[in-house]
Amino acid sequence: MKIVVFASGRGSNFKAIVENIESGALTNVEVSLVLSDKPEANVLTYAAEKGIPHVCVDSKTFATKDDYEKALLEEVHKVPCNLLVLAGYMRILGEDFMTNVGCPVVNIHPSLLPSFPGLHAQQQALDYGVKVSGCTVHFVDLELDHGPIIAQVPVPVMDDDDEDSLSARILVQEHQLYTVCLQLIADKKVSIVDRCVKIKK
Ligand code: GRF
Repeated sequence: MKIVVFASGRGSNFKAIVENIESGALTNVEVSLVLSDKPEANVLTYAAEKGIPHVCVDSKTFATKDDYEKALLEEVHKVPCNLLVLAGYMRILGEDFMTNVGCPVVNIHPSLLPSFPGLHAQQQALDYGVKVSGCTVHFVDLELDHGPIIAQVPVPVMDDDDEDSLSARILVQEHQLYTVCLQLIADKKVSIVDRCVKIKK
C-alpha cells in the first residue's frame, strides 16, 4: 500500500510510522510522499534525512483555499497513492479536494471522539474533567474529526495533569495506534458499513 502523508509540524507520528516500516513492525506500507503546508515543518527535515520524497505546498503563497487545494491535488496525483494519511495536518480539507483525491483519507486525533473534536483536544478534556481520554484513528469526511472510527485507545487522566503531560501520555499511544490501523488497512481488513468500521479477524 502506497501512502501520502500530510503533516504540518513536529512529525512524531510520521516518524513512528517510518520507524515501524524500517523495523518490520509495519509491512506492505510504503511512503510515496510527505507533504507539508509549512516550509519550517520538522517533518520535512526528517523526511529529507531519511531520503523520503517530500514537498512543501506553502498555504500562504496561494490567494484562495481552492487554489491551494488544487496544488495539493496535483502533488498527490503525481505519485502512487492508495491512502492519504493525515498526521498532525492542521487544516480542514475542502469538498473539492475530498471528492477528487481518489483514495480514502485517515486522520489521528488526540481524544476519544466524538468527545473533544478540534484544536487543543487534550486541554478540552482537562477542562471538562473527564477521567479517561485517549486517541482515535478515523476516516476523514467533510465534517471536522467526524468520519467513521477505525480504532481508539483510552488513556487515563491524572489529577495533576496539565496539557503537556496529558498530551505526552496520549502521544505514546498515538504512535502505536496509527501503525496498527495502517496495517489493518494495508491487509484489507477494514470495511465501512453505514458509518461503522468493521475489522476482519
Ligand atoms: C498529534 O497529537 C495528533 O493527534 C494531532 O496533532 C498532533 C501531531 O503531532 N492531530 P505530530 O506532528 O505527529 O508529532
